[in-house]
Amino acid sequence: MEDSRIACLVTGCAGFIGSHLAERLLARGCSVIGVDNLATGHRRNMAAFAEHPDFTFFERDVCAPGLVAKARTVCPRLSHVFHLAAVVSVPYSVDHPRHTMAVNLDASVSLHEAAREAGLRAFVFAGSAAEYGETATVPIVEGAAGPDTVQQSPYGRAKFLASARIAASGFGVSLRCFNVYGPRQSASSPYSGVISLFMERGLCGRPLTIFGDGGQTRDFVAVSDVVEGYLLAAGLTGPTETPLAGIFNVGTGHSTSILELARLVAKLTGNDREPEFLSSRQGDIRHSVADFSKFAAAGFSPNLSLEKGLAILLDWQRLQKG
Ligand SMILES: NC(=O)c1ccc[n+]([C@@H]2O[C@H](COP(=O)([O-])OP(=O)(O)OC[C@H]3O[C@@H](n4cnc5c(N)ncnc54)[C@H](O)[C@@H]3O)[C@@H](O)[C@H]2O)c1
Repeated sequence: MEDSRIACLVTGCAGFIGSHLAERLLARGCSVIGVDNLATGHRRNMAAFAEHPDFTFFERDVCAPGLVAKARTVCPRLSHVFHLAAVVSVPYSVDHPRHTMAVNLDASVSLHEAAREAGLRAFVFAGSAAEYGETATVPIVEGAAGPDTVQQSPYGRAKFLASARIAASGFGVSLRCFNVYGPRQSASSPYSGVISLFMERGLCGRPLTIFGDGGQTRDFVAVSDVVEGYLLAAGLTGPTETPLAGIFNVGTGHSTSILELARLVAKLTGNDREPEFLSSRQGDIRHSVADFSKFAAAGFSPNLSLEKGLAILLDWQRLQKG
């Protein structure tokens, strides 16, 4: 299918990942209808494409019914839905479990059903590594989360239940991303906010602060690679035009300790201060790394090394500082 014939609904388009995805889809020639209530997203994240003639923005809550129908009034040939809007703060989800379930589970299920009933071509949902709970076995495979898994927060629980519903329906795909990083990420992100924080401190010549001994490991994946994963899942790139179905991990398979990350950022920012160690945070998972062989078999191939990705982020962060 010609990209200029493809029309996509992107929820969470003013957020970190959603804004990169919308920008990439528009650059390919797709039309994009973006939806966001600006709860954690920002208009400035859309600056690069807000005026694009093929972009329409609705400031709107995804819990409001009729989203697919509304999008189709603007663009009757709507074919693909990328659903990224969510409550993303884990502490907020603990304090507000009902709101989290309403947004991350109920609205996701409704949107998925509406897309299926409308006969749309693809539905891609932003699942999460948080669906795995405190699993001890790394690298983590998709099957590690099941009905008995205890997620550590309503955020993880809602994502798990939504992913399971989508997978059981046979229509649509859930991408369980690990720690996504890159330009436009908020320093408060539970996933890779640590990178933005390290960068900020590194650039100011302040010591980097590490919770615990820094031996915790994470799988940091660049937002540009994640966006390619979204396109692949929707059947817009890759070996076949058929959208994927089911659940797929999205990561690099490389584990990086927080101490290694601190050293890399210190080197890049020219910060020679010794890191400061603070007491470890309760509930901090020790090791997390993706087994993404299932997604790799479908054609996913992350190609930005952490060093290169951090250099890109650093350039962006310097530009923001002016
Ligand atoms: N960043 C990561 O490392 C990571 C990892 C795994 C999964 N995810 C998932 O990817 C998606 C995007 O995450 P992100 O890091 O870009 O976060 P983000 O906060 O930057 O983006 C989420 C967007 O959703 C919007 N939103 C929230 N509630 C809404 C509602 N009720 N109606 C409409 N819009 C709403 C926010 O305003 C924001 O723009 C989320 O679903 C998140 O759970 C992110």
